[in-house]
Amino acid sequence: MALSKTMSDALNKQFNEELNSAYLYESMAADFYAKNLPGFAAWMTLQAGEERIHSEKFHRYLDENGERVFYAAIPEPQAEWKSPVDAIKAALAHEKYITKRIHDLVRLARKDDDIATETFLGWYVTEQIEEESTAQSLIDKLEMVGDNKVGLYQLDKEVSTRQQDA
Ligand SMILES: [Fe+2]
Ligand SMILES: [Fe+2]
Repeated sequence: MALSKTMSDALNKQFNEELNSAYLYESMAADFYAKNLPGFAAWMTLQAGEERIHSEKFHRYLDENGERVFYAAIPEPQAEWKSPVDAIKAALAHEKYITKRIHDLVRLARKDDDIATETFLGWYVTEQIEEESTAQSLIDKLEMVGDNKVGLYQLDKEVSTRQQDA
């Protein structure tokens, strides 16, 4: 079954949103490097890599459905955040925005009676639960550490051990 034009456009938009997410997290990584937090920087670099994988999945899905993929301009991301907790809070807010967009895509698939796309999007629905929960738990840890420099140093070491998801 062919995708509706609205669905094809919406998936293209989300393909670019995922690239935009990667760009935002690379920018956060650069800010963490600049502030001598290499663990958080490495964590964000991995996160950016995951966002590129998310975008590739949309790319492939559009390809498989005989739809053209379009690359849109990516806005310049914020370059600096006041504190690590500020950055991760911004990441969580961004993930919530993405979750809302994914849910809107599911609603569109339902409206189109497009079962294949609804099923494809299910992976993202689950992934977004994990994305929000991961960001929230980092915020919790950073708030626990507060202004304690030794605590921040330890936490930076802890997050540096993050592995790329399978
Ligand atoms: Fe994503
Ligand atoms: Fe994400």
